Amino acid sequence: MEKLIITRPDDWHCHVRNGAMLKTVLPYTARQFARAIIMPNLKPPVTTVAEALVYRAEIVQAIPEHLDFTPLMTLYLTPSTTPQDVKDASENPYIVAFKYYPAGATTNSDAGVSAVQQIYPVLEAMQQFDVPLLIHGEVTDADCDIFDREQVFIDTQLSAIVRDFPALRIVLEHVTTQAAVQFVTANNANIAATITPQHLLYNRNALLVGGIKPHYYCLPILKREQHRLALVNAAISGNPKFFLGTDSAPHLTHLKENHCGCAGCFSAHAAIELYAEVFEDNHALDKLEGFASFYGADFYRLPRNTGTISLTKRAWTVPEYYGEKQNQVTPLRAGESLRWTVE
Ligand code: NCD
Ligand code: ZN
Repeated sequence: MEKLIITRPDDWHCHVRNGAMLKTVLPYTARQFARAIIMPNLKPPVTTVAEALVYRAEIVQAIPEHLDFTPLMTLYLTPSTTPQDVKDASENPYIVAFKYYPAGATTNSDAGVSAVQQIYPVLEAMQQFDVPLLIHGEVTDADCDIFDREQVFIDTQLSAIVRDFPALRIVLEHVTTQAAVQFVTANNANIAATITPQHLLYNRNALLVGGIKPHYYCLPILKREQHRLALVNAAISGNPKFFLGTDSAPHLTHLKENHCGCAGCFSAHAAIELYAEVFEDNHALDKLEGFASFYGADFYRLPRNTGTISLTKRAWTVPEYYGEKQNQVTPLRAGESLRWTVE
């Protein structure tokens, strides 16, 4: 039976929520990943070092005993974030980055920033103290088409940030377009990008053909096939600017299967298995380890993991739900088959 052993991977973009949902979903991330960047978009958002430490303690409590897992905390940039907050974060070993959500761009982003110029002094401090900036790269203008929002963000905001803060380390999170791949590739080594499994596996037909499929709805929204192909080529290229970030974003099933369904795909149950399919389909399994286990750590200047995980080519069927009745989450690929199994 075909087997693949790689250095234990990390997830450089993950939502684990808090409370009961945290307990439901965290074991799936901790089972395969040694570390994960924890997104701060709780209600209310995690904006200070003190809040991040409280949240971190709750996550640590929820790690199953036999698993070795390290949460890497982030703070949510708001119009009230100060350069002093940045300095405080830079001095705390548990906090690795700030997350910039344009106000209203996605789930729990109402507290975000509405004009990037608002936060220039804070970006200056991030550059000075060498704290990475993680960006949800979509504009939120009501008159901007949802399929164009990433490209317009790059043209109108990201180019200016990169120009004005050349030494700031930036991760353009969950890239979804050819334009994003080109931008990241063309700019200096301080700008990198994460890519999710859903954006590598699916185009917008998965969401819209044959009925609306709410479990494929996430932000940035799935795009045309040409964009998916550009992402696949970036992921398998061996270019260290592109690395794994699942954006696993659990929502209760009934809140997605709803007249106004929430954005976010839950993928932590099978993340590395989903990526393995993409790399295998594109004859690039030898490139999976760099993407999943090396480049992210290198970018964040953290040591690479030393342990390994082992994947076997043995099919299994993804359950329809994870979690208890009151807390059910529908995973990506629910009820369908996956080719790889983590031992
Ligand atoms: C994320 C969530 O649910 O928190 N949703 C999503 O569609 N990706 C937020 C985000 O990362 O945009
Ligand atoms: Zn996210």
